[in-house]
Amino acid sequence: WGADGHQAVATIAYNYLTPKAKSGVDKIINNSDFTSIEDASTWPDRAKTSATGGWHYIDGEDSPLNGQCSLSLSRDCPDTGCVVSAIADAANTLKTGSDATNLAHALAYLVHFVGDAAQPLHASGYSKGGNGVTVKFSGASKNLHSVWDSAILLKTISSKYSGSHDKWVSALIASATQYNTAAGVACASSTDPTNSDAVETCVMKWATESNQLVCSTVYKSGFSQSTDLSGAYYKSVAPVVDAQVTKAGVRLAAMLNKILG
Ligand code: ADE
Ligand code: ZN
Ligand code: ZN
Repeated sequence: WGADGHQAVATIAYNYLTPKAKSGVDKIINNSDFTSIEDASTWPDRAKTSATGGWHYIDGEDSPLNGQCSLSLSRDCPDTGCVVSAIADAANTLKTGSDATNLAHALAYLVHFVGDAAQPLHASGYSKGGNGVTVKFSGASKNLHSVWDSAILLKTISSKYSGSHDKWVSALIASATQYNTAAGVACASSTDPTNSDAVETCVMKWATESNQLVCSTVYKSGFSQSTDLSGAYYKSVAPVVDAQVTKAGVRLAAMLNKILG
């Protein structure tokens, strides 16, 4: 996601923290260079290097134009890491670490990558997660990945919430309880954060759901490279973008409550 998506995931999660987990987050932020959990949420993009770039996604083996999407941890997460293993590493460091900077970076990575795991195209290997797919949106040429990272939710904020990011996030928070039973919330609440295999199994539920959305929604819904996607396609997929951002917030809160609560 772009900054609006990551900051929204952070705000939604913070809203659902237990008092103890909230104090834990506040203490880590106060002992760091970050000004807020929202500021921390976007740091992994500012700090991206060739070594950490692969931690933002997992490339499924997809032919979405033929309706074929599949994801496998052993096949698709390389030894250099992917979004699933990066979440497990961050959860473990957040639970067991002691150095203030390490804890702040682990928190930032966890907030950021739980968000990325819910972006369907961050779980798709087809054309580098859509980065290689040229489309039209509001009269401009864009790649499909950037449409899903930013353009759709920016259009929602401008057209439905008079340009207010905060009003959009408030509406997502008001709708969030319906996602308490979404895939992977229960395991996020119950999995030992130091058991990396178990955390990866839990996170694979979210990534698999994202990968399935690539076939069921991203390359459907009237998708075409020649039609402007800000019309009927936007109307069809905008609720899915809101739902994915909200689910990421609820899942992140469940993990943080388990780790810091
Ligand atoms: N680069 C390669 N695959 C990608 C993906 N699924 N998302 C973002 N960047 C990528
Ligand atoms: Zn992206
Ligand atoms: Zn990212």
